[in-house]
Amino acid sequence: MFGTLKPQAPDAIIQLIAAFRDDPRENKVDLGVGVYKNAEGRTPVMRAVREAERRIWEAETTKTYISSLAGEASFHEAMAGLVLGADYPKDRLSGLQSVGGTGAVRQGFEIARLANPDTTVWVPDPTWPNHVTILDFMHQRHRPYRYFDAETRTVAFDAMLADLEQVKPGDLVLLHGCCHNPTGANPTLAQWAEIADLLLRKGAVPLVDLAYQGFGDGLEEDAAGTRLIAARLPEVLIAASCSKNFGIYRERTGCLLVLTDPSNRAVMQGTLAHVNRQTFSFPPDHGARIVQTILTTPELRADWEAELTEVRNGMLSLRRQLADELRRLTNSDRFDFLAGHRGMFSRLGATPEQVEKMRLDSGIYMVGDSRMNIAGLNEASVPVLARAIVDAGV
Ligand code: LMR
Repeated sequence: MFGTLKPQAPDAIIQLIAAFRDDPRENKVDLGVGVYKNAEGRTPVMRAVREAERRIWEAETTKTYISSLAGEASFHEAMAGLVLGADYPKDRLSGLQSVGGTGAVRQGFEIARLANPDTTVWVPDPTWPNHVTILDFMHQRHRPYRYFDAETRTVAFDAMLADLEQVKPGDLVLLHGCCHNPTGANPTLAQWAEIADLLLRKGAVPLVDLAYQGFGDGLEEDAAGTRLIAARLPEVLIAASCSKNFGIYRERTGCLLVLTDPSNRAVMQGTLAHVNRQTFSFPPDHGARIVQTILTTPELRADWEAELTEVRNGMLSLRRQLADELRRLTNSDRFDFLAGHRGMFSRLGATPEQVEKMRLDSGIYMVGDSRMNIAGLNEASVPVLARAIVDAGV
């Protein structure tokens, strides 16, 4: 039977991990997978995470199943407070504890399909490649909408709105809540308001993928677009990841928050439990307990926010340094967009051949579409990258 299987194309992002590891060069630079690294190139366990784990370990008396297939309500509530703010509409909220942010996205697609088998999922072009491959894997209809202006490296807002004019009632529109992956270009708050108006007018449902809250301008600032959408639209899906902002990548912790009319809430909560049960039954718990412990313990939360601020400021500083160095080398402002982008990623705008040249000549690893993980840099590698960009003729 298994002889019928066809080889699957390797994942372009995950493939880079092994390629970088196997490169013997000492001065290689890893700008591939979206993982935060400090100046020494390590991905540390955050201080508050360590302390929360210690407290959980001391207090835990059982490993029996958690109380609900959709995960603990206390986790959903803590995440809703983080994402939507303390005054979120409790009577509209349902929640699902998921296997990472990807699991939340997947379950969001499943819910939309259950509710409306005819739904079309609109995805930004470009987007995180896994969005598209998951939809293909599900045999789910999807369409791209233009998002990025390759010339200016900013959001192609007019083109985006023009494409979204074609959205039908009951379609699902995927939006990146902040720190767009792969481009680093994000709508302004005024543009978020226009997006919200359009979706409302069209009767579409947004699925906001919020994987990098706290990595752009701040926890509140990065959630502002999502909050605006949540306040204006009657039905909203939000897939929040805890992988990056809590640095607990391998714990696979995420949350799908769903806002509906209060009268639909009980059915929605039951549907979320059902979708988890049919996929893997109970969700993993350890990461969710860490997150909930941090968010609900004032001293741990303060320490987590302080460390997240250090992480964010480090990335902002690297962006500035890289833009300045390129300004110096090229005697132009062509690369100033790097300082304007937010989050881990920027799409440089290099051709696949130029990306390959930077890898071969300088040991610089970035995704083939020229997405760079800014957190993979440090003060020493910024000039190396800048020089390689110029030498590659970008
Ligand atoms: C990325 O985009 O690099 C991360 O989200 C990791 C992944 O799973 O692709």
